[in-house]
Amino acid sequence: MPVTEPVLCKRIPTAPWGDPKDRHIVGYDEFVKTEGYETLRAALDMTPEAIVDMVKDSQLRGRGGAGFPCGLKWSFLPEPDGGRRYLAVNCDEAEPGTFKDRLLIDFDPHLVLEGIAITCYACRLDTAFFFIRGEYRHQIKVVETAIREAYAHGIFGKPGMLKGASDFVAECYLHRSAGAYICGEETGLLECIEGKRAWPRVKPPFPAVKGLFGRPTIVNNVETLAAVGPIVRHGADWWKSMGCESSIGGPPSFGPKLMGVSGHVNRPGCYEVDLGIPLRKLVEDYCGGMRGGKKFKGAIAGGVSMGALGPDQFDAEMDFDIGRKYQVMGLGTACPTIFDQDTDMVAVARNIARFFANESCGQCTPCREGTSWVYKLLVRIEQGNATSKDLDLLLELAGSMGIMSGTTICGLADGNNWAIRTIVNKFRDEFEARVRPSLVPLGVGAT
Ligand SMILES: Cc1cc2nc3c(=O)[nH]c(=O)nc-3n(C[C@H](O)[C@H](O)[C@H](O)COP(=O)(O)O)c2cc1C
Ligand code: SF4
Repeated sequence: MPVTEPVLCKRIPTAPWGDPKDRHIVGYDEFVKTEGYETLRAALDMTPEAIVDMVKDSQLRGRGGAGFPCGLKWSFLPEPDGGRRYLAVNCDEAEPGTFKDRLLIDFDPHLVLEGIAITCYACRLDTAFFFIRGEYRHQIKVVETAIREAYAHGIFGKPGMLKGASDFVAECYLHRSAGAYICGEETGLLECIEGKRAWPRVKPPFPAVKGLFGRPTIVNNVETLAAVGPIVRHGADWWKSMGCESSIGGPPSFGPKLMGVSGHVNRPGCYEVDLGIPLRKLVEDYCGGMRGGKKFKGAIAGGVSMGALGPDQFDAEMDFDIGRKYQVMGLGTACPTIFDQDTDMVAVARNIARFFANESCGQCTPCREGTSWVYKLLVRIEQGNATSKDLDLLLELAGSMGIMSGTTICGLADGNNWAIRTIVNKFRDEFEARVRPSLVPLGVGAT
């Protein structure tokens, strides 16, 4: 699989985004010098339908976690009826181990804004809310400045896009997130923008039909929107020339992808590579190999809610097939955390469970009670106070709550389940070594 040169974030080196000499924010003037906003100009000469078709044809899949086809989601919008229609830009990025949207903002905020403007035009959305993680103080300032620049140059606001080159008007507002993981779930996000507690909504209706303030709304991730401009500029075939087809007859994984790698590697960082790159290649060719030359033990596939890859899955291809092929939930944010041979996987599971127990919004009883129960069981196992029955109970709990089993409203509980179940199943001997055999009830086995 050839690894392409960086294309999406063309100004960002594929070396780790850590070298201070390479770091600078591409402001409006520099963006325009490299033909920035020319794609918007070209898009405004196309019909909105032609842009939607182009994005559909590219088979761009959402970069926020679920990999849902972007053009298909856009086509769920009803016909405009003269009322408001919204775009919610998801830059909450609270999934542990995930750092990619932040870097797009750090370096190329106008690339994202151009994608937002084109999306608004293509989907006839009049208002965009840039929903950004509250802790991203520096990035908030960067986006604020970029939005102000975009207004000053007529991208957003009246008289119409590009200072009236089109009569289409879109507004763009920045909205700080409220500091909880659940704010990133698309309907929790909408509640949050509406000024309420970020409690996810029961779906259907889906946001495209009934979203923000009851009106049609598209929710897209920052990285997804950053891909829209390059696709419109270079065409769907160009996008499809990167990434890979599915090896199991599923939908393809086209395009480049930002992969933020953390954990026990020599050069953790965010790299832009083709989808489909084997994890081993990502670690060895980009991250300088395993830290201290130690052995690979496992990895979080792409954000903790996706679950873990085991010691024999180092060659897993990082594409949207990964869930079906390697017994994890999916590719998620494609930001893996790598573990070396010395990692205590019981401690990893306990730490992840603590996160989910803290972050459950409490709306659904199975998730509210179940995530805390899972955490307590794992503490007991780690401290050597559990029996093998507790291990069975742990797996039973982690299999029974969640949207997939129809017992919760959103997927947070499923994230907890996949993380815990995959770690226990793939590293079972470590858990068994920590538990005592269950006591045999009185009378059982007596002769
Ligand atoms: C608990 C939870 C947290 C989520 N957090 C994020 C997030 O921080 N950023 C994000 O883009 N998507 C997040 N998602 C996924 C969103 O609900 C939604 O699928 C995504 O923003 C859609 O954008 P896309 O189609 O461009 O990928 C989360 C989902 C769940 C269940
Ligand atoms: S599954 Fe958990 S986080 Fe999601 S709505 Fe229910 S209680 Fe809240």
